[in-house]
Amino acid sequence: MGAATVKVIVTGGSGQLGQALRRSVPALIDGSTVQLISATRTGGDGTIALDLADAAACRALVEQHQPDWLINAGAYTAVDKAESEPELAYAVNAVAPAAFAAALANTGGRLLQVSTDFVFNGAQGSPYRPDQPVDPLGVYGASKAEGEAAAAAVLTAERLCILRTSWVYGPVGNNFLLTMLRLMAEREQLGVVADQVGCPTATAGLAHACWAVLEHGVGGRHHWSDAGAASWYDFAVAIAQLGEEVGLLRHPAKINPITTANYPTAAQRPSYSLLDVTATREQLQLPAVHWRAALLEVISHVVA
Ligand SMILES: NC(=O)c1ccc[n+]([C@@H]2O[C@H](COP(=O)([O-])OP(=O)(O)OC[C@H]3O[C@@H](n4cnc5c(N)ncnc54)[C@H](OP(=O)(O)O)[C@@H]3O)[C@@H](O)[C@H]2O)c1
Repeated sequence: MGAATVKVIVTGGSGQLGQALRRSVPALIDGSTVQLISATRTGGDGTIALDLADAAACRALVEQHQPDWLINAGAYTAVDKAESEPELAYAVNAVAPAAFAAALANTGGRLLQVSTDFVFNGAQGSPYRPDQPVDPLGVYGASKAEGEAAAAAVLTAERLCILRTSWVYGPVGNNFLLTMLRLMAEREQLGVVADQVGCPTATAGLAHACWAVLEHGVGGRHHWSDAGAASWYDFAVAIAQLGEEVGLLRHPAKINPITTANYPTAAQRPSYSLLDVTATREQLQLPAVHWRAALLEVISHVVA
């Protein structure tokens, strides 16, 4: 990357990861200053308006700005709603990355496509490596898997990094942590699913990993999550304990473990979606941070 400025487009700029990326732009990438262009659904607040369901607009954005990198953090993330809105889910999660990839192939830029543990079926019972075949259970996972494949059909591995992550949460946005904090303050008891295992991933660390991808010019398929493993029940219990410790919750609800069968949802979820992040962590030269330590850091910054 010889240019004095690295131009980076971030999509989904108002989402959880998008906001974390915007908050953590490095001063330099590989010795060059960073010019950030953020795209959001509605524009405003210094961002450019972009409808990710509009493939022509996605292509035009790249052609107009000719970025060195595009970090596609935008996505249709409503896992259950996707079952009844497959066209929109595919437009945003599959057609948009295909459009970005096609335009970047022409302009010479690179794509960081953020993806999900939901591309796997969860049946193997040990952490998924990045090179393993995908087998999504629902529309959301299938649309994200198609987005990965569509981008990989157009861009070589040096020009495309697919970074899958899991159970994303942070101090803002729509996520399990903030939902639990609200419910734990409102209720006396709460049932939380104990038979789905994965790893919570804080947006700050995930954003850091994204910037490290750009810094090291990493391509290919990769996995990123915080370290360790948890069920949603474990995650909820930790939220209650740490929430009380930092003074966010005075009398947190009692958390009861329930089964997936007791909590029916429109979309089927993988029962075990731990990602093997060993190789990626080494390549990005980032330390392992246990999810509970990351949670304490996040929860300490949540305003009651
Ligand atoms: N959340 C998780 O647990 C999780 C787990 C694994 C992987 N991931 C992946 O991680 C990435 C970041 O997810 P996140 O948690 O940051 O998601 P998020 O908070 O739901 O943010 C998604 C962003 O995409 C935007 N978006 C959706 N449809 C759009 C459209 N048609 N036009 C323009 N913008 C649109 C949303 O805009 P609005 O704010 O206007 O709706 C939002 O800013 C995604 O690739 C996701 O698939 C997430």
